[in-house]
Amino acid sequence: MATTRDADTQPADEPVAHHGSTTDETSNGAAPERRGKTVYGEPANAGHRVLAPDDAEVEAYLETALNAPSPDRSRVDRPGHTGATAGSTEPDTVVVLDFGSQFAQLIARRVRELNVYSELLPHDTPWAEIERRAPKAIILSGGPNSVYDDGAPRPDPAVWSGRFPVLGICYGAQLMAHELGGDVLPTTRREYGPALVSITDDDGLFAGLEHDQPVWMSHGDTITRLPDGFRPTAQTDSSPYAGLADTSRSLYGIQFHPEVVHTPRGRAILRNFVVDIAGARPDWTAANFIDTTVAEIRARVDARARETNTPGNVICALSGGVDSAVAATLVHRAVGDRLTCIYVDHGLMRKKESELLRVTFERDLGMRLVMVDARERFLRRLAGVEDPERKRKIIGDEFIRVFEEEAEKISASGRIDFLTQGTLYPDVIESATSETKAAQKIKTHHNVGGLPADLSFQLIEPLRYLFKDEVRTVGLELGLPEAMVQRQPFPGPGLAIRIIGEVTAERLDTLREADWIVIDEIKAAGLYRTLWQSFAILTPVRSVGVMGDGRTYANVVAIRAVTSEDGMTADWAKLPYEVLAKISSRIVNEVPGVNRVVYDISSKPPATIEWE
Ligand code: XMP
Repeated sequence: MATTRDADTQPADEPVAHHGSTTDETSNGAAPERRGKTVYGEPANAGHRVLAPDDAEVEAYLETALNAPSPDRSRVDRPGHTGATAGSTEPDTVVVLDFGSQFAQLIARRVRELNVYSELLPHDTPWAEIERRAPKAIILSGGPNSVYDDGAPRPDPAVWSGRFPVLGICYGAQLMAHELGGDVLPTTRREYGPALVSITDDDGLFAGLEHDQPVWMSHGDTITRLPDGFRPTAQTDSSPYAGLADTSRSLYGIQFHPEVVHTPRGRAILRNFVVDIAGARPDWTAANFIDTTVAEIRARVDARARETNTPGNVICALSGGVDSAVAATLVHRAVGDRLTCIYVDHGLMRKKESELLRVTFERDLGMRLVMVDARERFLRRLAGVEDPERKRKIIGDEFIRVFEEEAEKISASGRIDFLTQGTLYPDVIESATSETKAAQKIKTHHNVGGLPADLSFQLIEPLRYLFKDEVRTVGLELGLPEAMVQRQPFPGPGLAIRIIGEVTAERLDTLREADWIVIDEIKAAGLYRTLWQSFAILTPVRSVGVMGDGRTYANVVAIRAVTSEDGMTADWAKLPYEVLAKISSRIVNEVPGVNRVVYDISSKPPATIEWE
């Protein structure tokens, strides 16, 4: 998805090395054991806390407070689908069938980076479902199975009909060979990791590529005989058919992974397939997305307003994070003052964050914003509390109470018809459940009454087709400030879980100042976007120091900076000494009450990213 400004793309995803697979990826299909705890501290079966931390959590509080109904995600739920003249503004689509590869989502993202909308569907999606989307092409992902496994996943056989161009990747290529009458056999030598392929036929898929290509391989089985009608297009030392094609039916297969960064020309190969062979128009751009989405939201809200004879009021929770900011801005463009945003200032935000939010939404965008100053009440309830999970529960409870009160006020002066949520595409495909994962979790932990059920509002989820990096691109295109759009994840309970021990106004001020310096220096060193998170922790330890002629006995601040793909595992960042030195000296000089700074060099697991 392109933006007229500098496009934002997440750091390129790296394949994760593992061993002992038979074909590609993990062979036994079992999820790797993960350790950790959930946001509420119980042993986590998923091993991590709520994903997409800040926005998901705060929005889920509002959802819970309002006792939100399940979203109605109909099966025709596609960008630009108006229901009337079906398909008029729907983008050209590439369907990716998921055979269990850890890279399946990545394939969809890579296609979207070519500005072509791509949808990830289960491998056994019925042909009618695929056809209804009128895809320009189909991509079959890799997967952990061998085509000979009992119950090896297979697509609807109509996939091979030649009706739409098909690209099989790794397991997808083996399936193509196997199902159409070729042979696939286990190799004596697994190919895992970097390899060199020689292109023997540079038509079509490999157009414009040099003869020898470094690629990423991960397979045990290999194609040993091609089906009738196919010709070889690429080979390696151990795979005679690293590429195969039957151009008359537009069927293509490659044994390697074009979607990972270790295949440097992978993007060109995907582009050749998607744009040149399949003829998909690269019209999935931020600007188009905004236009279509705004029009869709407006049409929906207007229709409901007519139906219910109300103004069609919408509310949205803002967290300070990117998802809710982008969702709110899209809805605001569509319905203007009919949208009310609620921001709960719990006093646990970082320096200048609440102000940035106010300036952006109220002053610059002219939105109707309810900023609830709840700092006192959160502090009161947190007084004397040291246990991390009690802190989280209290903060969650209090959030829900505040939201209930605010929603009550808003609905007293005009009924609420819609609630905006920043649900992202990975949530929609992963869970296919009706509620966000965060909301389910929160509901089980808070005994909330919710508002009267007769509110019967609906959900607006303008980001449900987008990956996180696309949300950022759209945010920039909408003119939201970089500081908001590129913000690192920040936990819902905020600084409270970075103050070890009791949270007091004074300790919050100390941490806010120290944290500000960390972020400032990390940004000045150009490192902010290379890190998953970077922040300060106020420890309960005091240590002796000297300042001038006097002895001090003051707080120890810890610095945490980690790199990570998704927050589930993380590595401590090898920050340059000069950056650490600058951070340290600024903190002890500029933050009253701190005389020592330490750097946390623990990875996750076994440590978590946050200290509490
Ligand atoms: P941990 O500390 O479990 O953090 O390694 C993983 C990611 O989750 C974030 N996190 C939270 N997010 N509420 C949230 O919304 C929480 O209570 C919470 N605890 C941790 C953390 O910042 C990291 O990105």
